[in-house]
Amino acid sequence: MSRIAYVNGQYVPHLEAAVHVEDRGYQFADGVYEVITLHGGRMVGEKGHMDRLDHSLGELRIDWPMSRQALSVVIGEVIRRNRVGDGFVYIQVTRGVARRDHPFPENPESSLVVTARRMPPIDKETLRQGVSVITIPDIRWKRHDIKSVSLLPNVLGKQQAREAGAYEAWLVDDDGNVTEGTSSNAWIVTKDGELVTHNASYAILNGITRLSVLEAADEAGIKFSERPFSVDEALEAKEAFITSSTSHLKAVTRIDGQSVGNGHVGELTGRMLDLYVDFIENHGGPRHTGTWN
Ligand code: PDD
Repeated sequence: MSRIAYVNGQYVPHLEAAVHVEDRGYQFADGVYEVITLHGGRMVGEKGHMDRLDHSLGELRIDWPMSRQALSVVIGEVIRRNRVGDGFVYIQVTRGVARRDHPFPENPESSLVVTARRMPPIDKETLRQGVSVITIPDIRWKRHDIKSVSLLPNVLGKQQAREAGAYEAWLVDDDGNVTEGTSSNAWIVTKDGELVTHNASYAILNGITRLSVLEAADEAGIKFSERPFSVDEALEAKEAFITSSTSHLKAVTRIDGQSVGNGHVGELTGRMLDLYVDFIENHGGPRHTGTWN
């Protein structure tokens, strides 16, 4: 079966899917995106992703390419045509095609691309195995709450991680605090047993997976703290993990080559993974969204 992509009003074979060379997404990275997990044929956190898309578009003054309702129909159609049960949907909106010039064009028409891809279903055993992260300086711009397609520092960071034999790079701000990963949110369980992740602010992308995990923790009566944590605190942590729509909730067992705790998936991490999967199966995603910074 060949993959189908949606590009500016048309469903086309993935291999032929293309945008104009003067699309501002291509020229200036003048666009935003969302990645939505598909779990057992259902989108996880569709409302949250749409709310965050609205935030990103609003902050950059890019028009919605169509109504929210119409976009939901297109997304459903792309999933259906690609017969994806487990995987993800990718949505990209840019400021559209215009002669190359930095200021916003007059009367821009936003471009919209939607694709879907199969992925293996969530496998708790794999997620518990644990991955390594490295820490590197956060050299990004200052608006990480906007899910911009301008991802060069993230690309370079992820490559650096891969070349170091690690799965992810944690980005460290000028105060020595971990903001987040190049494509995931960062979590630790401190040596005193406190579950910690950076607070939502301009410093991080407020992940939909992050929001689900926080709600799942709340529901289970597990205390957490949304605050910055330093690299030193992370190195002393008992447990660590990352969250994202494509990595779900993955244990981190090494930071900068040093074992986290006993080097195996932590107790609370394992519990949070179970709670997270139950949570998305019961609620379909976070129920409380709306603040992105
Ligand atoms: N990345 N932080 C950054 C910088 C991200 O790029 C992502 C997601 C997250 C986690 O957000 P969510 O839980 O909503 O997926 C945090 C996507 C998956 C990507 O770029 O492919």
